[in-house]
Amino acid sequence: MKIAITGKGGVGKTTLAALLAQFYADAGRTVLAVDADPAPCLAAALGFPQDVRVRLRPIAEMADLIEERTGAKPGTIGGFFSLNPRVDDLPERFSAVHRGVRLLEMGAIEEGGAGCICPESALLKTLFAHLLFRQDDIIIFDMYAGVEHLGRATVDFVDGMLIVVEPTQRSLDTANRIRKLAADIGLTRLWLVSNKVQSAAESAFIAAAAPELPVLGALPYCSEVPEADRAGVSVYDAAPALRLVAEQITQRLTVVLKDTAK
Ligand SMILES: Nc1ncnc2c1ncn2[C@@H]1O[C@H](COP(=O)(O)OP(=O)(O)OP(=O)(O)O)[C@@H](O)[C@H]1O
Ligand SMILES: [Mg+2]
Repeated sequence: MKIAITGKGGVGKTTLAALLAQFYADAGRTVLAVDADPAPCLAAALGFPQDVRVRLRPIAEMADLIEERTGAKPGTIGGFFSLNPRVDDLPERFSAVHRGVRLLEMGAIEEGGAGCICPESALLKTLFAHLLFRQDDIIIFDMYAGVEHLGRATVDFVDGMLIVVEPTQRSLDTANRIRKLAADIGLTRLWLVSNKVQSAAESAFIAAAAPELPVLGALPYCSEVPEADRAGVSVYDAAPALRLVAEQITQRLTVVLKDTAK
């Protein structure tokens, strides 16, 4: 199962990715979590200890690797380089595992839009496509804020996408934009998860302005989340209320994925 998590910046994509990844890992599933943010945070949300985190670096920042695989230095525009570099060994080689979650830091993927044609984007796009083809048990993509990453490959190979919203107009505007873009490219397996809701009024605010999509779960605001961040511990351990909702989301995902023909 391949799930992408998207939504406006700061809504809680990484928090949700960490909760789902740890839930599946604890349930005995084989989990690959992919951090596609240029400033990776998923390792922290998963409570990866410092000695494991030092082994992680976003692929996008590995200049030597990019040159070795594509034949050109990052930033090269024009000139010759491979658009289809070898990537199959990268997920295992550059990831780290903690409590059953394998984490790969990619850096931003510009899979959908015009994007730049440069060695680093060639490597990342090829790696992203490779991940989408893999037959992993569970892959969770913590996507970069925004909608640029929505492209054909996402539509064809991701089982579904979760859009995270919080009770702000801007996050709902972004969710509506994502929904429209998704519809334009034929991605219909799209669900909402609300986050940081503190009152019935906030919940009603979301319901009134959110895209008309099935809601898979509502994560309440929990002071344990920023506390976990400060203490450097996993959000899954720190916030039992969120863990419960994450479990609910996984149950509903199983149902909706059965219902929606791929
Ligand atoms: N349910 C929650 N309760 C309280 N705080 C939360 C909750 N979810 C997320 N936060 C806080 O909101 C901030 C953003 O969360 P998170 O990093 O998960 O969002 P994001 O969408 O991944 O952000 P970015 O777009 O920067 O990657 C963090 O400071 C986090 O502690
Ligand atoms: Mg994030």
